[in-house]
Amino acid sequence: MPAAAPTFSTLPRHIAVIMDGNGRWAELKGLPRHKGHEAGARTVRTITEECARLGVGRLTLYAFSAENWKRPKREIDFLMKLLKRYLAGERPTLMKNGIRFTAIGRLHELSPEVLAEIEKTKAITRENPKMTMTLALNYGGRGEIVDAAREFAGDALRRGKVPELTEDEFAKYLYDPAGAEVDLLIRTGGDHRVSNFLLWESSYAELWFTKAFWPDFGIPQLHEALGDFAKRDRRFGGLTER
Ligand code: FPP
Repeated sequence: MPAAAPTFSTLPRHIAVIMDGNGRWAELKGLPRHKGHEAGARTVRTITEECARLGVGRLTLYAFSAENWKRPKREIDFLMKLLKRYLAGERPTLMKNGIRFTAIGRLHELSPEVLAEIEKTKAITRENPKMTMTLALNYGGRGEIVDAAREFAGDALRRGKVPELTEDEFAKYLYDPAGAEVDLLIRTGGDHRVSNFLLWESSYAELWFTKAFWPDFGIPQLHEALGDFAKRDRRFGGLTER
C-alpha cells in the first residue's frame, strides 16, 4: 500500500527555487548537458504540480538568469527552445491544475517567439485560482531593484514631486509586487549562495540547500524541505513568546 501523503503544519505561502545541477547530472551519466536541462524541465512539472496539490500559493523558479547569457550560444539556444516547448506543452497541465502562469525579469530582451509563448500562457491561465507559478527569465535581483528605482523615479518626474517612499511603497515597483515575500528559498546542486535571485523578496526567507541535482529533486526531497520549514521558528527579528 502506498504511504499516505504527508501533511504539513505550516506551509510556505511562497517557495522560490534555484534549480541548479542539470549539467552535472547529465555529465555524471555520460550524457550531453542538454539532456540535463530536458530532465530539469520534467522536474519543473513534478514540483509545480505537487506544490499546487499541497496548497502552496506561489512558486517562483529561476529558469534563466541575466548572467546565463555568458554560456555558449548553443546552450542558450537550447534553453530557449526548451522553454518555448515547455510553455506550449504545459498549458493543458497548468489549466488542469488551476495554475496561473507568470514571468519576471527583463522579458523585453527575450526573443519575440519566446515572448509570444509567455504572453499566450499568461493570458490562457490568468483566471486560474489555485497557485501562481512564476518563471524568472533574464532575471537578476540587483537589476530588478534598479528597474524598480527607475520606475519610481519616472513616476516622480511625471507627478512633478517625489512621493514619500517606504518599503511597502517601493515593493509596488517590483516586477510582481504580489510575490514580494518569499517564505522558503530552495537551492539544489550543492552550492550555498543566492546568485542574485529575488534579493528583495528573500530578505526573511528560510533557506534550504540540498546536494541533490535539480533533475533528482523529486516529491520526497520537496517534502523533506517542507518538513524542515514547518519546524522553523520564524521570528522576523523579534522574539518567540515562551
Ligand atoms: C542550472 O543548471 C539550470 C539552469 C541554468 C537553467 C534552469 C533550467 C531548467 C531547469 C530547465 C528548463 C526549464 C524550464 C522551465 C523549461 P546548470 O546548467 O547550471 O547545472 P550545472 O551547475 O551542473 O552546470
